[in-house]
Amino acid sequence: MPTILITGANRGIGLALARSYRRDGWRVFAASRNPDASLAEGAEAVTLDLSSPESIKALTLTLAGIPIDIVWNNAGVYLDKNQALEQVDNRDWLRSFEINCIAPIRIAEALVENVSLSER
Ligand SMILES: NC(=O)c1ccc[n+]([C@@H]2O[C@H](COP(=O)([O-])OP(=O)(O)OC[C@H]3O[C@@H](n4cnc5c(N)ncnc54)[C@H](OP(=O)(O)O)[C@@H]3O)[C@@H](O)[C@H]2O)c1
Repeated sequence: MPTILITGANRGIGLALARSYRRDGWRVFAASRNPDASLAEGAEAVTLDLSSPESIKALTLTLAGIPIDIVWNNAGVYLDKNQALEQVDNRDWLRSFEINCIAPIRIAEALVENVSLSER
């Protein structure tokens, strides 16, 4: 069965993606930072906080040995929404960069073995 992992799968675009892939018969690992989040029916919940290296490491261990065909780095933040440039706090810039730019690279590193097991 083709397999995808989607980050931020508990709402918004990530949830819609998870539902869509489930409808198409995929095995879906739905990552969210809230372990109690309601996810797409039939999706398998995995806990992931992108701001936590420990959480990313735990994801690697949880999924060890499982082939993954697609890793969809969907989770992200938009902390400067509706703010003028001069109003954006430096901490928000750094936080945005951490979650939107660095975390996807960390996820790619964390799941490279899974993706290398993919036959697709
Ligand atoms: N919607 C748009 O028009 C649009 C346009 C361009 C790009 N995008 C990008 O597309 C992606 C999805 O957009 P969306 O509208 O569906 O966003 P959304 O509704 O705000 O959902 C964002 C998702 O990212 C998760 N997330 C945020 N910080 C996280 C963290 N530290 N660890 C783990 N998960 C985290 C959220 O989890 P929680 O529920 O726990 O907060 C949520 O599941 C985002 O990367 C966004 O920047 C969206």
